[in-house]
Amino acid sequence: MTPAGVTELDLLDIAPEARAAAAPAAAAAGADIDVIRRAADTCRACDLWERATQTVFGVGPVPARIMLVGEQPGDQEDRAGEPFVGPAGKMLDKALAEAGMSREQTFVTNVVKHFRWKPVPGTKRRLHERPSKVQVGACLPWVAAELEIVRPQALVLLGATAAAGLLGSDVRVTRDRGRPLPSNLAPHVFVTIHPSAILRAGEASSRADAFNGFRDDLAAVVRAITA
Ligand code: URA
Repeated sequence: MTPAGVTELDLLDIAPEARAAAAPAAAAAGADIDVIRRAADTCRACDLWERATQTVFGVGPVPARIMLVGEQPGDQEDRAGEPFVGPAGKMLDKALAEAGMSREQTFVTNVVKHFRWKPVPGTKRRLHERPSKVQVGACLPWVAAELEIVRPQALVLLGATAAAGLLGSDVRVTRDRGRPLPSNLAPHVFVTIHPSAILRAGEASSRADAFNGFRDDLAAVVRAITA
């Protein structure tokens, strides 16, 4: 339950375990994005903070016409404290540019704000693990607060974790991608693949096909907000 009547000043006084739940009300009451970001820095709504380097909050203009939501920060994002700065981010930048939109015009975030990983025995590698439903649920209020402040024309969910987290488990990325979906989260809501799926697509020709499909989905978003 979101505590009612939470003001921007209250948010930083709320216990770290309860702060996420209070964030959407604080955003609705006028808290600015930096207040929400600072509150998220010490979030303890689930256990992921224990192994992560830091909270990785959304970045971009406020308001923004397009808000993109990925799964969770990866290894590089966890170290840098910014979403989509690694290989998946480079793929995203290229596809956005080809679709007629620059990253700087978009607000980019993740449905989970801490990196979930497990050690690879005998190495220093940190292996990505998909966040659980409980972890996604615990983090969702931060996305709700971002949406409240960013107020995008188009919300784009990248991959199955973000799509299921925000639209429910009936959504299927392969079936529903690239076309407007019914939702009151934003005037236009789209799902598409996660850009890391392109990197995993295997041979060069499969990667090119996956990239072209991703770019075309983003182009449909750009058309929807410029129509
Ligand atoms: N994958 C994501 O979903 N988000 C990031 O920020 C980086 C990789």
